[in-house]
Amino acid sequence: MALPLEGLPAALLPCALADAPADSLLALSDEAGWNQTEADWRRLLRCGRGFGLAAGNRPVASAVLLPYDAGIAWISMVLVTAAWRRHGLARHLMREAVQACRARGRTAVLDATPAGEAVYRGLGFKPGLPLTRWHRPGAAAGPPPTAAAATPLPAEVVARDARAMGAPRSVLLNALAADGQRILHPQGSLLLRPGRRAWHLGPLVAETDEAAHTLLAAGLDLLGPAPAVADARDGSGLEPALAAQGFAAQRPFRRMHLGAPPAAEPELLWLTAGPEFG
Ligand SMILES: CC(C)(COP(=O)(O)OP(=O)(O)OC[C@H]1O[C@@H](n2cnc3c(N)ncnc32)[C@H](O)[C@@H]1OP(=O)(O)O)[C@@H](O)C(=O)NCCC(=O)NCCS
Repeated sequence: MALPLEGLPAALLPCALADAPADSLLALSDEAGWNQTEADWRRLLRCGRGFGLAAGNRPVASAVLLPYDAGIAWISMVLVTAAWRRHGLARHLMREAVQACRARGRTAVLDATPAGEAVYRGLGFKPGLPLTRWHRPGAAAGPPPTAAAATPLPAEVVARDARAMGAPRSVLLNALAADGQRILHPQGSLLLRPGRRAWHLGPLVAETDEAAHTLLAAGLDLLGPAPAVADARDGSGLEPALAAQGFAAQRPFRRMHLGAPPAAEPELLWLTAGPEFG
């Protein structure tokens, strides 16, 4: 029989998120008003490693560690159901994720909500890039774009993204591209994917202001009136274009890291892939 976890309520036991029913995972992200689909959870748990705590047979808290190809391991899906908050569950799962990250010799990076930031600062994470979630309600009946061909992304797209992030992540980018849409430009790229509430625009990586604006316009054209979200680097200059297309700033995120700071070129990163992927 599994023993109670030190310092945590006795009713809680570790659980394997990868084996949890989809509805129990979606219940966690839906409760927080997040946008992840079952495909997002499955992609994260296939490419990464989940850490969970269950009460009975339902997970009540989660965290996921997603190693990039090298250098960085991304941490996300830090969620605790409301009834179990402020019992140290997020801190416990984060310590496990950070330990696994250190064992791989990676820098841990994440995009924190204000509530999450309080937990991560206590664990030694350092604040970096400020980001803002932009949301456009759109028309529910927006036509869903058709699925893209699952061909690998061009090497220059993966290489430019690696410069923007400070680490390569070809496995993740190709998994995202296979489940969504891609728009390529000689000086940049934009991926789009369906979410539970809205389409997600990003990552948008570009060498120039002009390329970034062209890619954003092409992405919005592709989506038509569908609901959409985009996580923009503060001060990127895309804000007026987003506002003109009906987006409004919804909430802030803060990129944070623990370990050697990634040698990123943030000016290449206009829209992120979202807090779940980086
Ligand atoms: C953020 C969240 C994961 C925290 O989970 P939790 O299990 O309640 O956090 P913990 O109990 O482990 O908190 C550890 C410490 O972080 C700080 N902290 C946690 N939540 C906080 C909050 N809402 N405001 C201020 N400080 C907070 C406290 O210092 C806390 O220690 P204390 O309770 O001894 O004072 C949870 O509130 C949640 O799921 N929120 C919605 C989704 C979300 O924003 N997730 C974070 C994504 S980056």
